[in-house]
Amino acid sequence: MIDKIKESIAEAEAFEAHTKEEIEAFRIKYLGKKGVLNAYFAEFKNVPNEQKKAFGQVINQLKTTAEEKVNTLKEVLESKEEVKGIYGDLSRPGEPIAIGARHPISLVKNQIIDIFSRIGFNVSEGPEIEDDWHNFTALNLPEYHPARDMQDTFFIQTDPDILLRTHTSSVQVRYMENNQPPIRTISPGRVYRNEAISSRSHCFFHQVEGLYIDKDVSFADLKQTLQYFTTEMFGKSKIRLRPSYFPFTEPSAEVDVYWGLETEIDHRITKGTGWLEIMGCGMVDPNVLENCGIDSKIYSGFAFGMGIDRIAMLLHQIGDIRLLSENDVRFLEQFKSAL
Ligand code: DAH
Repeated sequence: MIDKIKESIAEAEAFEAHTKEEIEAFRIKYLGKKGVLNAYFAEFKNVPNEQKKAFGQVINQLKTTAEEKVNTLKEVLESKEEVKGIYGDLSRPGEPIAIGARHPISLVKNQIIDIFSRIGFNVSEGPEIEDDWHNFTALNLPEYHPARDMQDTFFIQTDPDILLRTHTSSVQVRYMENNQPPIRTISPGRVYRNEAISSRSHCFFHQVEGLYIDKDVSFADLKQTLQYFTTEMFGKSKIRLRPSYFPFTEPSAEVDVYWGLETEIDHRITKGTGWLEIMGCGMVDPNVLENCGIDSKIYSGFAFGMGIDRIAMLLHQIGDIRLLSENDVRFLEQFKSAL
């Protein structure tokens, strides 16, 4: 009888199961009311007294073996189910990824690029750390030229020849040095000026430079291009050009767009005049063409430069320029619905 029980122990030890049902069947077979264990217990009374101790020990051994088996099999199965729980249904759709928002500067920049690309302008870029030649000298601003003071410059202390560009006009120079006409390019980018930071001005901001060089380019072409731009950008086609001065253009002008005086905001942003200044422009000075290796007897052209931040503030009713560089998500999130 003892041998038979030992066989049962070996059998129970070797048992393997993969489902809950198999484990339960095993439990019933060994530990259930009518199970193997109870059957052996029932035999107990027939066992001679001197064998009772040994008999009891093997039965107990069978009991613990069967119980432990049930427990370990259950644990293995549960841990497998846990893993399944982590990965779940792999064919399920994923977690939605939160959609970000474009920065208002990028929105306006992309809009400007889009408008000019429709009339054949490409996009060019230059470095923000610039040398004196590209930022000043080649643009008809030789050393000691008083107009250098129009823009307070950040110089790199160890080298007076290296500076943070004060305008994107420096890209004009680079582009003309490397490309012959016909040229139609716009150059967006960040510029730096040593100015006190306030709600209306910052020590860095963004500009878009435009350059058109070809044979027989006239001031009328410039005016027409600007009018196309303001119509597309602001839905306003009435512009005026006020004579102005820039060293790199002759003649030079400042461009105002007629914004209107319909609302209180119109009054505020145009200071009650209805007109809003949006950029500087002019016919590229022959000296600049020559400085950049373009024959000014054959070619002529126009250039213009505008501030992106100002336009973004205008279009999106942003009252403080500092908001554009503070990266406050509460501010930035408001542009989610914009293109
Ligand atoms: N560079 C000028 C500025 O930063 C803007 C400008 C004026 C650019 C006239 C031009 C131009 O190309 O023709 O204030």
